[in-house]
Amino acid sequence: MQNIMSLETVSLNKDNDAVVIIDQTQLPYNIELIELRTQKEVWNAIYLLQVRGAPAIGVAAAFGIYIGAREIDTDSYNDFYKEFKDKKEYLATARPTAVNLFWALDRMESVVTKNEDKTVSEIKDLLFAEANEIKEEDIRVCKKIGEHGVTLVKDGYGILTHCNAGQLATVKYGTALSPIYVGLEKGYKFKVFTDETRPLLQGARLSAFELHSSGVDTTVICDNMASIVMKKGLIQAVFVGADRIAANGDAANKIGTSGVAIIAKHYDIPFYVCAPLSTFDLNCKTGDDIKIEERPAEEVTEMWYKKRMAPEGVNVFNPAFDVTDNKNIAGIVTEYGIARAPFNESIKQLFAKRDEKRI
Ligand code: MRU
Repeated sequence: MQNIMSLETVSLNKDNDAVVIIDQTQLPYNIELIELRTQKEVWNAIYLLQVRGAPAIGVAAAFGIYIGAREIDTDSYNDFYKEFKDKKEYLATARPTAVNLFWALDRMESVVTKNEDKTVSEIKDLLFAEANEIKEEDIRVCKKIGEHGVTLVKDGYGILTHCNAGQLATVKYGTALSPIYVGLEKGYKFKVFTDETRPLLQGARLSAFELHSSGVDTTVICDNMASIVMKKGLIQAVFVGADRIAANGDAANKIGTSGVAIIAKHYDIPFYVCAPLSTFDLNCKTGDDIKIEERPAEEVTEMWYKKRMAPEGVNVFNPAFDVTDNKNIAGIVTEYGIARAPFNESIKQLFAKRDEKRI
């Protein structure tokens, strides 16, 4: 079987007319690359979590809007832009919480609006270049997050993670798992505990798979076991990713993350959020402004079970994300450094650093 770590999570095919993704719903059993040729296929892949994780969703959307734009058959800028906007608005409805989706689509749109003087064919070429840059930037940025994150750990640490914020959630390295991979390159040996992450099991299926494939000592636990492993002294740091971070540092991530942060605080274990600046939404003053996706009830009652495991007709609440209060976050690890409380200030400084010199 191919090693999952040698594959790119999202890319374009060689003819540049399809988005290629690893179908994450098939993991860990099948490593299957699929080609998405239409807007609808890209939308479905994002909605169904065939491609998932905030940065990977952003890259898929950038390539998705590029292949959509490529199909627009007109030489008129105005007609092109109108159709481009329709396609963009459609893709933006795939999932609501990960801000990288909107960030990438906005970045692609600004290529169109800044180049009104160019021909449609030239604009298409520029869109191709921008989508590729979004992908390449993701690789650079994730590596940097790992380099900053590794300064927070020591050889031999027990690390807990929730959901999958690894390579499969980005193009390469990941965010929360990047410090682990960078540590590995330095010869560090970690013991990583991964919450299974109900209901979609991104921890058990994806994080455990990629960590184990990389030779990391990996232990899967059920979500309700975080407290016992912390109490036993097995965890020295928690690393998680984020889907959207507010200006005050409140961070939305996979459902269950905020509970892990509360437990970590109880045991005095540092809880770190790792995310690129593209995951910050400074229009959200606090986590209360972040829209939380709700998903179908069947994910809770039926998925993964041989038989339905809850009575027919019972109510189900299935929010896909929750928000961790900034007071429970020891630091937010970004490509420009580590933000610490007071977050409003430290986050502003990271953006200023980015404006001085981009990675
Ligand atoms: O629903 P998912 O699997 O897309 O949720 C993913 C997460 O919550 C990740 O932790 C987050 O997107 C960060 S990925 C680097």
